[in-house]
Formats: sequence, structure tokens, C-alpha cells
Amino acid sequence: MKPFQGKRIVITGASRGVGFESAKLFLAAGAEVFGTGRDRDRLDRATVELAKLGRFTPFLVDFDDPTAPAAVTEVVAKTWSALDFLLNNAAVQTYKQDWYDEGLAILNEQWRCNVFAPHELIFRLVPMLERGIEPRIVNVGSGAGNRQALQTQPDMPTYRLTKYALGGMTMLWAAQLKGKVAVNALDPGWLRTDLGGPNAPGVPADGGQRMVEICSLPWTETGKFWYGNQEISF
Ligand SMILES: NC(=O)c1ccc[n+]([C@@H]2O[C@H](COP(=O)([O-])OP(=O)(O)OC[C@H]3O[C@@H](n4cnc5c(N)ncnc54)[C@H](OP(=O)(O)O)[C@@H]3O)[C@@H](O)[C@H]2O)c1
Repeated sequence: MKPFQGKRIVITGASRGVGFESAKLFLAAGAEVFGTGRDRDRLDRATVELAKLGRFTPFLVDFDDPTAPAAVTEVVAKTWSALDFLLNNAAVQTYKQDWYDEGLAILNEQWRCNVFAPHELIFRLVPMLERGIEPRIVNVGSGAGNRQALQTQPDMPTYRLTKYALGGMTMLWAAQLKGKVAVNALDPGWLRTDLGGPNAPGVPADGGQRMVEICSLPWTETGKFWYGNQEISF
């Protein structure tokens, strides 16, 4: 029996980077994966690779569109009767020096994909998760958005703020769903993805491995922030 045999997993942002690497590992470990992407060509290319490993269902969606989480929920509900894992991984980051360099519009843009979309997906998918087996939610945060980083590093402020908010959201949902759905946040590490850039020390596969580690923690662990299976501070 493979470690994730028969698990039903939603991964947002499965077309590249951490999401793609996580999907590869979960499919190889026996799970069925429903993965989203925003760019049709990238999602098609990822689907060719992922379908070789197991049952992968792709879904094209742009979380800048406020109707996107409802659309995802509708298709997931047609795919499965219950859900075991929701992995909120898709996010955007733009590197700027400070708030003035970023301007005002960016807050609304990044907030939609990095905060509103994961929140609404949780809100809508909880009933399906409650029918799952030891169901879990993982919100992919970042060390760039922990309290200490916010106090000392004023660059890319919007991204940091969205990830700090995601940490708060993780704690609140964990408290509400205690005993029903485990809710944790993951720092996948600084990785050489499109988002992480070429100078990062880690490779995308490291992030996939850390995703598997957080998803393998005892189910009773909830409301915490993890770097793989090591607890860290929000
Ligand atoms: N890489 C790092 O160093 C690092 C460090 C800490 C935390 N993280 C976090 O890890 C997660 C994954 O990051 P990554 O490095 O793998 O990023 P990435 O390589 O840039 O991939 C981002 C993924 O999110 C999807 N996405 C982006 N904007 C979207 C939108 N508006 N609507 C729908 N999908 C969208 C992309 O889809 P398309 O391919 O279709 O555009 C892609 O699948 C993020 O939450 C990030 O904040 C990364």
C-alpha cells in the first residue's frame, strides 16, 4: 500500500514550481490529484507529465477572477464525493523596494490570489473535507511573511503582508475546525522557482518534499507553521 493511496487532493498552482513537484510526489505515492493552473499551455504541459504518474485532473482557473473559487468547488464536487487534502499553494509575488515603489493597486491584486482565494476555497470546501478521511488543509506561507521579517525587512511589503495574513487565517480556521479538519501553514523554503528566482539555495523538488512532510504529520497537529516537519514561528 502506497503512503497516500486513494487520497483525494486539491493542489492550487500545480502547473509549475512547488505545486507541480508536490503533485508528482503525491501521484507517485498513490493519491488522486485535482490541480489548478492559470496559463493554459503550462497547465497542458504539466498535465502530460503528471498523467504519466497517476490520476491527475487539471483545471484552468485565474484566482484574480473573484468567481474562481466557486468554479473550482463546483468541479471538485463533480469529481469526488469527499476531499482529504486542500493544498492552497498558488500565489503571486512582485519584488519592489517599499510601499511607494509598489503603489496602491498591488495590494488589491495580490490579496485576491494570496489571501481571498485560499480563504474562499476553505470556506466552500469544508463540507467536502468533513466527509474526508483525517482531512487536512495546508496553506503555503513563507518565512518572508513571518512576524520577525515584517519588523525588519520593508521590501516587497504586500507579499509579506499577504503571507502574514495567511498565517493568521490558518490559526483562525484551525481553531474553528479543531477535531474535524487539521489546518497548518508551510514554509517550503527559498527555492529556484519562477517566484523564488535564480539565486535561491533550494530546488523546487525540496518544496515538494516539505509538502509531503507536512502532510505526513500526526493528524492532531493543527494551527501551526512548519518548515517540512519542523515547527517554526508565524
Ligand atoms: N519559491 C520560493 O522561494 C518560495 C518561498 C516561500 C514560499 N513560497 C510559496 O510557495 C508557493 C508556490 O510558489 P512557487 O515558487 O512554486 O511559485 P511559482 O513557480 O511562481 O508557481 C506559482 C503557481 O501559482 C499559479 N498562480 C499564480 N498566480 C495565479 C493566479 N492569479 N491564479 C491562478 N493560479 C496562479 C501559477 O500558475 P501558472 O503557471 O498558470 O501561472 C503556478 O502554478 C507560493 O505560495 C509561494 O508564495 C515560495
